[in-house]
Amino acid sequence: MSKKMFWAVMIGVVFFGVLAATRSIWQDPADQTWMKGMITKINILPKEKNMAYEQACASCHMLYAPSTLPADSWKKMMQGLNNHFGDNAEVDSAVREEVSAYLQRNAADKVENIYAQPMLNLLKDGEIPERISDTKYFKLLHDVVRPEMVSGNPDVKSVARCEVCHYEALEGRFNRFAVRIPNYYKEGVWRKVRQQSEGKKAVQE
Ligand code: HEC
Ligand code: HEC
Repeated sequence: MSKKMFWAVMIGVVFFGVLAATRSIWQDPADQTWMKGMITKINILPKEKNMAYEQACASCHMLYAPSTLPADSWKKMMQGLNNHFGDNAEVDSAVREEVSAYLQRNAADKVENIYAQPMLNLLKDGEIPERISDTKYFKLLHDVVRPEMVSGNPDVKSVARCEVCHYEALEGRFNRFAVRIPNYYKEGVWRKVRQQSEGKKAVQE
């Protein structure tokens, strides 16, 4: 290869390298097409849909995937709907039985997905978690999430509102690259927070 040719190729490589690097800096990870492919892969919702579950449980919060809790947790929760985290979520007994069976059938200990197994492994002997957000695994996954991002954040308020931060949660996807905390910004690793395009208050990380 001639010297001229060599340098032409080198300049080309550097040019495209810089282009690729800056692109990943100024674009949101979720908007980068190569990452989109990664984001869409894992879906934790069961294939089996259940109308009764939607009717009984979708009015106050999102429909949590059954595989986020073990069967015993669902069983217990469905027995105490009259006092459900301070609310009355009671439904008639036929619906309750159907929903309870559906949740237990598709619970963490009945399916296989990458989140269910470690969640179960981290439970203490005989532990029946009352909430997804109570489990040790959930807390480990969310150790970067500080209280001011949740309870102190008017656009989030509660960690139970998965779909606010995980913008693909309703489709059953919780990939860490598909997270955006309102008023904060996240890009794979936590970096200095930048101004959100909607003009919301940016917070320094
Ligand atoms: C009347 C309103 C209401 C209805 C209906 C309702 N819930 Fe809830 N649920 C709540 C509230 C309030 C919380 C606590 C949310 C919080 O901490 O911000 C909650 C929390 C939960 C959590 C725990 C979320 C976490 O933090 O991990 C689960 C699981 C849950 N509900 C399941 C169900 C199921 C299953 C049904 C249907 C049988 C149901 N809910 C129906 C009000 C309701
Ligand atoms: C305040 C915003 C926020 C809320 C609300 C929230 N999460 Fe997260 N979640 C995060 C962040 C940020 C990460 C990624 C942390 C990291 O990159 O290490 C994450 C990570 C995860 C992961 C791991 C993803 C992966 O790629 O391995 C799962 C699973 C998850 N969350 C489930 C949930 C569920 C279920 C709920 C609701 C009960 C919830 N999250 C509510 C912010 C949130």
